[in-house]
Amino acid sequence: MTGRGFFITGTDTAVGKTVVACALARGLRARGARVAVMKPVASGATRTPAGLRSADALALMDAVQAATPYAVVNPYCFEPAISPHIAAKEAQIEVDIAMIRRNFEVLAAEADWVVIEGAGGWFTPISERQTMADVAWALAVPTLMVVGVRLGCLNHAQLTRLAIEARGVSFAGWIASGVDPAMERTAENLASLERLLGEPAVAIAPCEPRGASSLTLEAAAARLVQKAISF
Ligand SMILES: Nc1ncnc2c1ncn2[C@@H]1O[C@H](COP(=O)(O)OP(=O)(O)OP(=O)(O)O)[C@@H](O)[C@H]1O
Ligand SMILES: [Mg+2]
Repeated sequence: MTGRGFFITGTDTAVGKTVVACALARGLRARGARVAVMKPVASGATRTPAGLRSADALALMDAVQAATPYAVVNPYCFEPAISPHIAAKEAQIEVDIAMIRRNFEVLAAEADWVVIEGAGGWFTPISERQTMADVAWALAVPTLMVVGVRLGCLNHAQLTRLAIEARGVSFAGWIASGVDPAMERTAENLASLERLLGEPAVAIAPCEPRGASSLTLEAAAARLVQKAISF
């Protein structure tokens, strides 16, 4: 089997997409799959002798020990930590979704699964006309929603789910991510999310301020594979 993938979106920026995407990539690998990663558009990058580098893309590549050239994984990398469409305009770069699609196909040809992390939330603009939702749609892979469990997430989770379906993209499920150590009534919120979203979480990543970056979600990876095969 080659060429399937998951697009990881979130209820907002900084909700745990990278943590979850890396944990799922590790989980898929632990099951013996060949896994590739992508961060098609990133902002907030660091200047290095090799060029601009996104910490998210590097974390994803590290999770799967990727040997792929950096530019295939992260073709659009902007230095300021601002919305990608503003960063792209300032850099006079037009984000070309067809090019992202070609990179995806290169990765998918050599992998069983490609784990793709979005930028920001579902409707983060990447140009005057396009958003990350258009990237997910063009890649034709199911979308997994990371819900950052913090105050406001019940609203953001429902909005994001509706928007994914409105764009005609398959909804692969949701993962709760414990990003807020001060969150109150976590259990009640998780129960509300399950009821409002109409399905249980694929996984719950508890708040682990020291251990989040080494998390592995193997059972969740197995569940997602089963779901994706039925799409
Ligand atoms: N389960 C967790 N427990 C504790 N901290 C977490 C957890 N998941 C994520 N974090 C922390 O929350 C912050 C945001 O996580 P992460 O970078 O994965 O979010 P993101 O959605 O990928 O952000 P961005 O929009 O910048 O791509 C990070 O500091 C991360 O270490
Ligand atoms: Mg990230």
